[in-house]
Amino acid sequence: MTHPEAQQRIGTLREQVARHAELYYRQAKPEISDRDYDQLERELADLEAQFPEFAVKASPTQRVGDDRLEGFTTCRHRQPMQSLDNTYSEEELRAFHQRLVKLFGRDDLAYVVEPKIDGLAVSVTYEKGKLVRAVTRGNGVEGDDITANARTIYSLPKELRAGPGVPIPEVIEIRGEIFMTLAEFQRINQAREEAGEALYANPRNLAAGTIKQLDPKEVAQRKMEIVLYGVGMCEPPVADSQKHYHELVKQWGLPTVERTWPVQGIDAVWAAVRELDSLRHSFAYGTDGAVVKLDDFRLQREAGSTAKAPRWAIAYKFEPERAETRIRAITIQVGRTGVLTPVAELEPVLLAGSTVARATLHNKDEIARKDIRLGDYVLVEKAGEVIPAVIAVNLQRRTPECVVYQFPDKCPVCATAVVQLEGEVAMRCPNLICPAQVRRRLTHFVSKACLDIDGLGIAMIDELVERGWVKELPDLFQLKRDELMTLGKSVEKSTDNLLASIEAAKQCELWRLIHGLGIPHVGVSASKDLAAHFREIEKLAAATMDNFIANKVSVISGIGETMARAIIGFFSEPKNQALVAELLRIGVQPQAPVKPAGASTVLVGKTFVLTGTLPTMSRDEAAVKIETAGGKVSGSVSKKTSYVLAGTEAGSKLDKAKELGVPVIDEAELLRLLG
Ligand code: IVH
Repeated sequence: MTHPEAQQRIGTLREQVARHAELYYRQAKPEISDRDYDQLERELADLEAQFPEFAVKASPTQRVGDDRLEGFTTCRHRQPMQSLDNTYSEEELRAFHQRLVKLFGRDDLAYVVEPKIDGLAVSVTYEKGKLVRAVTRGNGVEGDDITANARTIYSLPKELRAGPGVPIPEVIEIRGEIFMTLAEFQRINQAREEAGEALYANPRNLAAGTIKQLDPKEVAQRKMEIVLYGVGMCEPPVADSQKHYHELVKQWGLPTVERTWPVQGIDAVWAAVRELDSLRHSFAYGTDGAVVKLDDFRLQREAGSTAKAPRWAIAYKFEPERAETRIRAITIQVGRTGVLTPVAELEPVLLAGSTVARATLHNKDEIARKDIRLGDYVLVEKAGEVIPAVIAVNLQRRTPECVVYQFPDKCPVCATAVVQLEGEVAMRCPNLICPAQVRRRLTHFVSKACLDIDGLGIAMIDELVERGWVKELPDLFQLKRDELMTLGKSVEKSTDNLLASIEAAKQCELWRLIHGLGIPHVGVSASKDLAAHFREIEKLAAATMDNFIANKVSVISGIGETMARAIIGFFSEPKNQALVAELLRIGVQPQAPVKPAGASTVLVGKTFVLTGTLPTMSRDEAAVKIETAGGKVSGSVSKKTSYVLAGTEAGSKLDKAKELGVPVIDEAELLRLLG
């Protein structure tokens, strides 16, 4: 490869790695398999080693991805969370051992082999044995504070179990993975399927998406699990080896891996890896490999780390299960927000214990990128992926009959021209009254997180849409009693109950209506922020970019530029404007949030950033107090910040405040300000 070629390839790879890391870590919506991602990373690392002149010195944080999201408080890990080097080859695993043999001058090194859990990394801090914090990996140095959500995990003890001879450290960061069982994943997907909503691809994505909900009540409705296996910072130290540490984790009553293999020498490591592979399918969580760790903590420290990963550990990844089959057709599914998802209709094939007949193709770009054609033989993979994905085409079996798929430029259901929103890969049908969308939209509109109308199940919705009684959302409020009575199962009482719930829903809280409209990217918590800020649906519908972003800063905390664009784009559709006008015309009267009586305004115009642990209240409680008094709470410190409210163990935000000269106050001072 010539220098210019290498430079160009490195640039391309860097962009791809960054894009897929963002999709995986931050959005929990990966478009390529883990294996393909690992390959991109590996190619980049190899090229950078070969052409060091083009390598950029990446800080450790750039190397591990970043899962942090807007709306969460950032929290610094006392000890950074590193990533692991990984390999798919036995040879490289042996080479890992040889490097350590050379370093320590002996080959009987003791290791612990444990499952590599396919969840999302978390660090849980216990102080004096009490659970005080849970933080995602973030960029490895600081992550999102998900304590409130983690507290909803039933199996995570609030307190470490003490016992004779069981030490309880002053402070310990315990590392592990949050996951969701296959059964819970299937339960949720089944409900979504019934509601006509898009399905989650695998338990890992669903678990990641769930733990990053801003509202802990929503998290509590899904059963999340946790497994703990590692140690971060620990004061005073309580274990001197990984084996010893695993014993303590069990004694403290924490959920941990079913089995670990303390072994000596690389042959025993390999045997353990093989045995783990044969057992792993019976575990509650998905596994995608084995982690091999040097057992002795002292030797670990001596071996040290590279910028990205420790030298004393490696992940050996198992090959995902794959099968080859033919694409009979490509169909398009139209989702609630009009997203067109291409689906490969396959000749049924047996894969990892179940028959696969369909696989998602994600979007138009993916079909082009992989050059997938109708009639092609393709490899499908289920790498913890419950919905299989098409990995690659077998070009050797391509015939001239295999034709390029023309992605429709019209919605296959209502024939409206499809559009692509700026910055999105998805194609959308912008027609709000597309029948495919109406059914899904209506289901969303009446669901618990929106208008919460009792008695409108999926079967009833189907009837209403099929009979043409409901073509648009406002039709719901104009259903006729005598027509409803002609539906087979209807009895007088349930019809009257349904009509009464629909009537009551006209006075719904404003945020419910906003959420119910199904504006892309706008979830429950954003809907609440929008309702509190605009207070009238007409004002939201008329908002321009200046109302959302001023001097590149969010005017409404929690509403960034992507959401602002989606909202403006939504209301720029005349049909959507008409929909809102019609809802109001027929008597829907959304209720703005009530400002507490005699609302205090002492903090109006003041912006606060909260950091660290406060002595008597949680940060959430403090935020409510500030907002009730008219102040705003923001996630990051800038020159515009009025005060940083800092507790103990305040992180980088405190440093930033000092740097910018922003006044720092404590809880007592906040209470004084509140009067
Ligand atoms: S050890 C410095 N052990 O895999 C040591 N990690 O690809 C790093 N993971 O960031 C972690 N199971 O989130 C370790 N038994 C296990 C694991 C494990 C899953 C995750 C972890 C890590 C990632 C690296």
